[in-house]
Amino acid sequence: MNTVVLGLQWGDEGKGKAIDYLAGAFDVVTRFQGGHNAGHTVYYQGRKVVLHVLPSGIFYPACLAVIAHGVVVQPLQLVEEIKNARALGLSMQNLALSDHAPLILPFHQQLDVVFEDSRYQRIGTTRRGIGPAYEDVIGRRALFVKDLLQENAFRSKITPLAEYYRRLFTAHGHPAESFDQAIDQYLQAGAFLKPYVANTTFLLQRAFQDGKNILFEGAQGTLLDINLGTYPFVTSSNTTIAGVFSGTGLSPKSVERVIGISKAYATRVGEGPFPTELKDENGRMLRERGNEYGSTTGRPRRVGWLDLVALKYAVQINGVDSLFITKLDVLDELAEIQVATAYEGATAADGQFPSHADGLSLVRPVYQTLPGWRKNIGAIGRLKDLPRQVRSYLSFIEDFTGAGVSHVSLGGEREQTIEVDR
Ligand code: IMP
Repeated sequence: MNTVVLGLQWGDEGKGKAIDYLAGAFDVVTRFQGGHNAGHTVYYQGRKVVLHVLPSGIFYPACLAVIAHGVVVQPLQLVEEIKNARALGLSMQNLALSDHAPLILPFHQQLDVVFEDSRYQRIGTTRRGIGPAYEDVIGRRALFVKDLLQENAFRSKITPLAEYYRRLFTAHGHPAESFDQAIDQYLQAGAFLKPYVANTTFLLQRAFQDGKNILFEGAQGTLLDINLGTYPFVTSSNTTIAGVFSGTGLSPKSVERVIGISKAYATRVGEGPFPTELKDENGRMLRERGNEYGSTTGRPRRVGWLDLVALKYAVQINGVDSLFITKLDVLDELAEIQVATAYEGATAADGQFPSHADGLSLVRPVYQTLPGWRKNIGAIGRLKDLPRQVRSYLSFIEDFTGAGVSHVSLGGEREQTIEVDR
């Protein structure tokens, strides 16, 4: 069944683990947006591996792993990731990279850093050049993977663009860098990547027509969506269901199921409002137990209670069919658990999720308190064996959001996953 897996919060929901758990049943796994700002943590042969651009399907040799054109690609980073994957013993013959994926160029990363350090904008980005690369797509200046494959064309396109950025940096009082060395490195990376480059829209459409099982692997989360998230504290792509179609070239008819991933609590990295944020002992405990440190940047994540107003918004936007709740075991020690079921304040209205960070920063969450279970649940393998309080916690989420729970994750290992049979 063709399935989209999406984050329903601010990213870091445990999508890597969820996708890795599901990927074995698919013929194709495709990334459709974002770039190496993502960090999908999976365990392969007992080793922790963090994927940034490679789709999780890469671990299954029979599965075609596609980086579709909605993904922005930093070629040097991708080459390194491929080399690391080969070192793990993976052949990488199952990888396809879109010829039409926009490139993250050296000045994009520099611009991301300059803006983050300036007084104009502070989003708390991953400083990887993601936003500026997407800006160039919208500005119709972008270079694409296919451009890397032809040296003369690449040089003639990048030279005026590098000059454009050089002037921009100079105007803002930043030393003008020479990008010549980087251009040579990019061309070398192009030669390395050439065997993987393909028209992935065609590949995906053919897979769909042949009845193959396709998994769409989302990165980041719904509340970081450029259009539907907590703007401006968002990433620069459509992290929601819409990104699947613009980012792959497949139609909505190709999607049969949407699985939304949510932690049993909430986290956020970077700036921006976070109504249920905990700055107390409970917050510290959840951060440590949940190892809430960024897999891409190592930054400590902000931690809070589960926000059901936000979760319901995410369920509705994406047409979520079922929920995959992760890190439930992190709540094990708590005597009581809070969940936000409404907002109050000047910008709060009827369970609505404010359309903008300005509105969200003014709400106060209204909590409902649910009983904790104070038991170690990491080794439990069946839903019916979970403590009654755990099952009530899950039912509460289902009743509030209108989406059923299909999977529960109780730890990092693939085996620590319960499939809910109904
Ligand atoms: P950017 O995507 O690097 O431009 O960062 C924009 C915002 O998205 C920042 O708040 C980042 O912390 C956040 N962000 C980007 N990628 C991820 C991710 O994979 N997980 C969580 N947050 C992310």
